[in-house]
Amino acid sequence: MSLYEEIKQRKEKISVIGLGYVGMPLAISFAKVIDVIGFDISKEKVQNYLNGIDVTKEVGNTAIEETKALLTWEEKNLRDCKFHIVAVPTPINSDKTPDLKPVIGASKTVGRNLTKGSIVVFESTVYPGVTEDICVPILEEESGLKYGVDFKVGYSQKELIQVIRYIDLKLL
Ligand SMILES: NC(=O)c1ccc[n+]([C@@H]2O[C@H](COP(=O)([O-])OP(=O)(O)OC[C@H]3O[C@@H](n4cnc5c(N)ncnc54)[C@H](O)[C@@H]3O)[C@@H](O)[C@H]2O)c1
Repeated sequence: MSLYEEIKQRKEKISVIGLGYVGMPLAISFAKVIDVIGFDISKEKVQNYLNGIDVTKEVGNTAIEETKALLTWEEKNLRDCKFHIVAVPTPINSDKTPDLKPVIGASKTVGRNLTKGSIVVFESTVYPGVTEDICVPILEEESGLKYGVDFKVGYSQKELIQVIRYIDLKLL
């Protein structure tokens, strides 16, 4: 059975890393039909969500209160997931170069909790080459797994689109 089927049948979970303007609506939508773990490095932000407060003002307090997504600041929960969506910020430094610290930090977090057969999709906006040249080596080093053999990155967006299509159908 494909990972997509397993996710659809709730045999596997997905994670969303970075619960901001992009990640939180994604987590809330996915959680209507599949099992979702939403992770953010900010304990304060997650605490607010757990208290039913939509700090990003994207989905509304009711959606946050009603969501079945497991919202957490504890990275160990990511080990339960086979499909990771990274939506951490990519700010720019004062010299206009991209600040990749959040993407690097998230890659380390995912890498430490990556299991065989997983897929990692980076939604964060990065310049060409960042995924292959920076993120993948971090994922390999932290997990001890081999890219392309034990886990996939990037081109797996096709599967993300499949999941999104499935959700759209359900929500229409
Ligand atoms: N791919 C797309 O279609 C698309 C569309 C719009 C934006 N984006 C990109 O998505 C990214 C996120 O944008 P946003 O507006 O949601 O940002 P945001 O600042 O609203 O939210 C980011 C969240 O990530 C958290 N975070 C930071 N570092 C982290 C880490 N190491 N681990 C876990 N969580 C961490 C922050 O606490 C914050 O809650 C940006 O790079 C943006 O450019 C992508």
